[in-house]
Amino acid sequence: MNFSLTEEHLMIRDAARDFAQTELLPGVIERDNTQTFPDSLVRKMGELGFLGVMVDPKYGGSGMDAISYAIIMEELSKIDASASVIVSVNNSLVCYGLEAYANEEQKQKYLTKLASGQSVGAFCLSEPEAGSDATSQRTTAIDKGDHYLINGTKNWITSGGRADVYIVIAQTDKHKGSHGINAFILEKGMPGFDIGPKEDKLGIRGSDTHTLQFNDVKVPKENRIGDDGSGFRFAMKTLSGGRIGIAAQALGIAAGAYELALKYSKERKAFGTEICNHQAIAFKLADMHTEIEAARMLVMRAAWDKDQGYNYDMSSAMAKLYASKVAMEHTVEAVQIHGGNGFVKEYHVERLMRDAKITQIYEGTSEIQKIVISRGIIKE
Ligand code: CAA
Repeated sequence: MNFSLTEEHLMIRDAARDFAQTELLPGVIERDNTQTFPDSLVRKMGELGFLGVMVDPKYGGSGMDAISYAIIMEELSKIDASASVIVSVNNSLVCYGLEAYANEEQKQKYLTKLASGQSVGAFCLSEPEAGSDATSQRTTAIDKGDHYLINGTKNWITSGGRADVYIVIAQTDKHKGSHGINAFILEKGMPGFDIGPKEDKLGIRGSDTHTLQFNDVKVPKENRIGDDGSGFRFAMKTLSGGRIGIAAQALGIAAGAYELALKYSKERKAFGTEICNHQAIAFKLADMHTEIEAARMLVMRAAWDKDQGYNYDMSSAMAKLYASKVAMEHTVEAVQIHGGNGFVKEYHVERLMRDAKITQIYEGTSEIQKIVISRGIIKE
């Protein structure tokens, strides 16, 4: 067993850290205030290979492993979780789904641009009445011979307004339950595909979240991914990898808040000494350091499982469940350590605290992760 990162992983970490510090940090408060999507930064992340980290270079990707992906996600998320969710969805839910399940023509047409950052992708599963209960899809895709006709509504879609390519999960035969669901590739601008207003969110405000409406959208048959009826398993498998990305995001949010709190506690004086010397603060730092390290081990274990070709449904759910809990609890502690300054935007920890909450909700709530884990335990 080896707990050390390789030279290559360390170089990737340093590159992501440097990008986050020099490019993401300067405008992060402004983007959060104004809910501004980081267009030019997304382009730069594409040039650095962050948008198709695990994709084969023959499809425009960086050909790196899942551990590298987790490292990049952690480093970006320490500074800007809005930017990192765009990265996570593009990598895990869109590029991975296409590379693993799409045919060669679909890969050539869509994956190459998505992996190199020339296009941005969105993943559309959630609906007003099908969030956690993903088999209850109300969006329909009716087979019309050479095309499908898609009708319905998708909610809370990350990069919903800015994406170019959308993977849409819809029901083709409701009598077949989860086996009557398919995944389709849609493009922005298809007639009948409307983008609703942007959501005004608590956190990850620099990302772009919309409701999408499909009214008789004609989607060519060649845009269906995989065999007929394979869409639910496609979505579940893709989400398992997505949970590694979001677990790494949660880890980064927690680690970012911890690093700020540690630094602050070594500078701020009260009762005649730096506040880190007071046990009330020192014990908080000890808990944060320990639990963040434990979260990092779960994240790396899930990424390693994926790299080894092992099943990672359970390990990714465990990583996401734990890392998101650590992120929520320790960003609150980071605000507390900062006292009044923690409540002020320029100290960054209040934003990290707001951003942490979504990691317990998207790509499956904490309760959904417990369903996945408990079913896995019982099956073992
Ligand atoms: N891999 C492959 N197949 C899987 C699978 C997996 N990980 N999980 C389930 N399946 C298969 C099952 O084997 C089963 O197949 P059979 O019928 O052939 O046996 C079929 O799918 C149905 O599975 P279940 O009976 O387990 O389905 P369920 O209705 O009980 O639901 C669930 C399972 C885990 C609760 C699932 O609905 C779930 O994960 N829900 C959460 C959805 C979610 O994460 N949404 C997030 C939206 S995306 C997002 O947030 C992106 C963003 O913008 C950031």
